[in-house]
Amino acid sequence: MAQLWGGRFTKETDKLVYDFNASIGFDKRLFRQDIEGSMSHAEMLAKQGILTETEKDAITAGLEEILKDVEKGTLEISEKYEDIHSFVEAVLTERIGEAGKKLHTGRSRNDQVALDMRLYTRQRIVETAGLLEELLAVIIETMEENLETYMPGFTHLQKAQPTTLAHHYGAYFEMFKRDRLRMTDIYERMNYCPLGAGALAGTTYPLDREYVAQLLKFAGPTLNSMDSVSDRDYLIEFLAALSTIMMHLSRFSEEIIIWNSNEYQFVEIDDAYSTGSSIMPQKKNPDIAELVRGKTGRVYGSLMSLLTTMKGIPLAYNKDMQEDKEVSFDAMDTVADCLTLFIGMLRTLKFKKERMAESAMNGFTNATDAADYLVRKGVPFRDAHGIIGQLVLYCIEKNTSIDKLSLEELKGISDMFEEDVFDAVSLKTCVEKRLTIGAPGSESMKKTLQIYKSDLNNFRIESISFKS
Ligand code: ARG
Repeated sequence: MAQLWGGRFTKETDKLVYDFNASIGFDKRLFRQDIEGSMSHAEMLAKQGILTETEKDAITAGLEEILKDVEKGTLEISEKYEDIHSFVEAVLTERIGEAGKKLHTGRSRNDQVALDMRLYTRQRIVETAGLLEELLAVIIETMEENLETYMPGFTHLQKAQPTTLAHHYGAYFEMFKRDRLRMTDIYERMNYCPLGAGALAGTTYPLDREYVAQLLKFAGPTLNSMDSVSDRDYLIEFLAALSTIMMHLSRFSEEIIIWNSNEYQFVEIDDAYSTGSSIMPQKKNPDIAELVRGKTGRVYGSLMSLLTTMKGIPLAYNKDMQEDKEVSFDAMDTVADCLTLFIGMLRTLKFKKERMAESAMNGFTNATDAADYLVRKGVPFRDAHGIIGQLVLYCIEKNTSIDKLSLEELKGISDMFEEDVFDAVSLKTCVEKRLTIGAPGSESMKKTLQIYKSDLNNFRIESISFKS
């Protein structure tokens, strides 16, 4: 047991209490951020004359060494320390002596951990944004190649109207675009530096908080020291955005699973992204899509967990907040893995275009267009709806489709039908005539695609250069 306090205590901490309290097991992943934060703090303390230049130089060199040694693996983050902050400070003091003990001047672990977690989360927000951009790029590529790949569009999982694969993928472009924009929003709202808030009420040392914020590439310092050490909203926002990404990935996964089923056979998942069965040799299972769908619950769980942790905490810092880490790390890791694998799976997904078009042709997906045809001939829409309903019934009885009927058969139901009906209800016409903004007709889709491409070029998170 090695801890940063003890002066007022007359007894050793109970071993079970110590272990229960310790966070090193999971906050050790913050070592880079902890060191980076400490370096900036020391730099500022020296600028303000609180540390001498010599002390600051010793601290900086010592911290740099620790960072290198941890990265090389020659210094192990030992679990005998309570948390990552204690570990870094103890090793530093062990290595450089007295100056090491001065590093914590004007700082509390409360603002220190608030800083570490923000630095870490900021980096994960940028990383998530990058993965979303990769995903959007793959979606655009598939869209470009499939402007005329016809497929059925569904409502209630029943064939409704024909559309194209580009159009279907475009819906996901929209979803992941919003997810990407959320990253910028969250980033901008959380990019303020809490260091200098102290335990809760600031400090009497003349700290230059603006300067530290600048060194760490924040937009500025936070403005209320109590809020600085007790705010975890930015994590909640990020977890909510990660949950939304998972919800989108899960819907997409569900569709891929359906498209990959024996009954649909719209797609073939690459061998590298499927798995076999230990007993049924014919099986090729969409496990990645299923796992992504499955892991969604776990990310939602993280959000619920943190919301619940935070709901009853009086100001300012309370130890409950230590619980923010494991669930957040788990969600961040899960989403990064899911996005990475999903991108790979999409890149290698093969579409069975003939099968998709064939499926779009049966199932009366052209019934709306047949009704619209009659409307153009002067039949009121409500009557046309009834006539086409009868026509569909007729086709079901004869086990055929509208476009396969003879003109005579059609006229038997309504004499408004003419030879031009066949063109009007063809799959190509049904899709290509849909040219309103947002519709699947390829001339309309081409314009939308141009907008999507410029969206992709315009996403920006103000560039930040991490020391780590
Ligand atoms: N491990 C703690 C956390 O994650 C660090 C802050 C400790 N502060 C304190 N007053 N005990 O929240």
